[in-house]
Order: sequence, then C-alpha cells, then structure tokens
Amino acid sequence: MPHQAIALFRSAFGGPPTQAASAPGRINLIGDHTDYNGGPVLPMALLERTTAVTGPGEAGWLGLVSTRDGRVERVRWDGPLPSGWSAYVVGVMRELARHGAAPPGADLALTSDVPIGAGLASSAALTVAAAAALAALSGAALPADVLVEVAHRAEYEHAGVRCGIMDQTIAVHARAGQALLLECATGRSRRIAVRGRVIRVDTGTSHELAASAYNARRAECESALARLARAEPGLRHLADWPPSRIRELRRRLPAPLWARAMHVVTETQRTRTAAAFLARGRWREFGRLMNASHDSLRRWYDCSAPPLDLVVRAARRAGAWGARLTGAGWGGAVLIVVGATGGGTASREARIVRTVDRSFRRAYGRAPTITVVQPGPGARPERVI
Ligand code: GLA
Repeated sequence: MPHQAIALFRSAFGGPPTQAASAPGRINLIGDHTDYNGGPVLPMALLERTTAVTGPGEAGWLGLVSTRDGRVERVRWDGPLPSGWSAYVVGVMRELARHGAAPPGADLALTSDVPIGAGLASSAALTVAAAAALAALSGAALPADVLVEVAHRAEYEHAGVRCGIMDQTIAVHARAGQALLLECATGRSRRIAVRGRVIRVDTGTSHELAASAYNARRAECESALARLARAEPGLRHLADWPPSRIRELRRRLPAPLWARAMHVVTETQRTRTAAAFLARGRWREFGRLMNASHDSLRRWYDCSAPPLDLVVRAARRAGAWGARLTGAGWGGAVLIVVGATGGGTASREARIVRTVDRSFRRAYGRAPTITVVQPGPGARPERVI
C-alpha cells in the first residue's frame, strides 16, 4: 500500500516523501488481559497493515494526514497533546526524542486497512509504523526492542491507554506463518507455526468506553496484586499466583477483584498449555482451551459483549473447534478455529460462515465481516519510489 500513502503525502504536502515503513495489526489466539499481569500471550500478525510515509518538515512541527479523515493537521510535537490519532504520533515523536532518534520536524501521511476499534491493535500498527518511518527520517538505526518500547510508551504515557506490550511486540517481531508465544514478565518468546484454518468475524461494534473500561480492569488487577502481595511478599505478578491455590482467591479478595484474578490465573495456565498443543498441531484441544478462554473473559473478566457472545455461540453450534473474543473485548472481533487443514474442514467452514452470518443478521439486521486469517510478517521499511 505505500503508493496510496505516497499519493496522499504528495497531495497534502506538495512533494515526495523520503522514508516509509509499515506495520501489521494482530490477532491474539489466546491469552487476553494477561500481558500487563506478567503472563503469556499468543498473538500473530494480520496481513492488514498501516503504512506511514514521511519527509522533513518545519522544526518543532508535525504535519499529519491520514485516509481516516483526509484532513491535514499541523501540531507542535513539544506542545499540548492533540486529540485523536495525532496524539499517538506526537507521543511517538516525544519518545523517539528520548532516544535521540527524532527528526527536528516532519510531515507524515498514514494509510491503513487494519480495522479500527475491532480489537485488532490498529493503534500499535500506527505507532510502530510511524516510529519506524520517523526514526529512519532522523537517520537513526533503531533496535527492534527500542521500537517496541517507543511505540508502547507512545500509547501508554501519551495517549493514556494503560496497555501491555503484546500489540507492539507482535507488530515488530511477527513472521509470516507463525504465532509468537511471549512471556511478558521475562520477554522470553517462542515462534510456533500455524497450520490450521482460522477465521475472524468482525462484529463492527466497539464499546465507546473501551479505553476507560480497560484502564479500570488494569487498576483492579493492580489492586488485587497489592492485596495478595501483603500476605505473599514475593508475589510480583498476578499471573504468578499458583493455579493449585485458585480457591483461595475468593477468600482473600473482595468482589470483583477475585473474579478478575480468577481469569488471569486460569488464562495464564490455559495459554501455556494451548501453545504446547499448537506446536503439536493438536487443534481440537487448542480449540477447547479457546472456548474456556472466552467463557472466562465473559464470566470473570466481564469484558465480552452480546454480539461477541452471539457469534461464539453460533460458531460452536456449527461445529467450530474453538471460538473466542480476541483483544481487549467490549466489542470487536471473534476468532474461530475451524480445524486442522484438510479433512472435513472446508465443509465445516462453509457451515460455520453460513450459521454465523445468518444468526448475526437476524439479531442485528446487518452482516458481520468474515475473513480467513493468515499470519503475516512484522514491521518493515517500505520503498518510497
Ligand atoms: C489490548 C492491549 C493489549 C492487551 C489486550 C488484551 O489490545 O493493547 O496490551 O492487554 O488488550 O489482552
């Protein structure tokens, strides 16, 4: 897609860009709301990407344009934080400056086919692509880990979403055909080939308070950890609570904190087991854990939504091996494991698509967007000519 971004840049700023980079959205197979609790996640990159093209601009200023609204905005990157997506780019510039990797000023155009507000990490695709392009403009060679950190801090410190590191990490480190098991407390990771048939249902619904609900959940987890650590001073992360002592949570924590902790502790265990199944191609067992994950997110973490539950129920009814919401929740997308490649998978997939589509239309009067998911590559520089 660089040509579209280049054309947008030329029409907005009257000349050609000099640097470009792109980064993907992601889908998380299992392990949600575990990253900021020190647990594991198992995401893979989408083929959908965000492209940022950039060229030198007036010192202290950012000229910004995106296909989202086509408006050219000029903001001081060291001044008050603008609203909307510009805040993310300003955050990126400020974080790059901390590493001596910010250009003095820049014009930047963005295009993207990552759905927004669908739980598919469109904001990480934006911050990673913008950080890579702007760092290249400054002439800095940014190590991959610093790119992750810059993109994460842009969202956490500047845009004010208290997110974990899953989305930025996969956007930078993804490889085509593979998922990444990432242990968020240690940074250790393992690549796992994905050979099953996976589809995604975008429900087209997003909770307008998702960011504040997300921050509220994170605060609840921090408060649960603080209470548990009073009696167990060695406990550093909620994900470290031993699954064998899960019953104690209810006794030691008030509602709803014990329910949040229940999800985090069981999801941590599920994700590690699921990764082992995935590595052995055991999709049926993998799917069962996905089902348990969705039920836990709905019941204990209270972050599902009626359209997501409807799609999950319809998919299971039609024979899916597993179905769950993916990402933060409160709207967005559902991930469905149809089965291992081959065998009766093609006819099962046709049945699942039909059933989900029909149930969704009946309930909401419009069609959901259903696509096959293929794990794509991570961030990369793009050519500007
Ligand atoms: C959002 C955040 C991630 C992660 C997920 C839930 O995508 O950006 O860090 O917490 O929600 O797993």
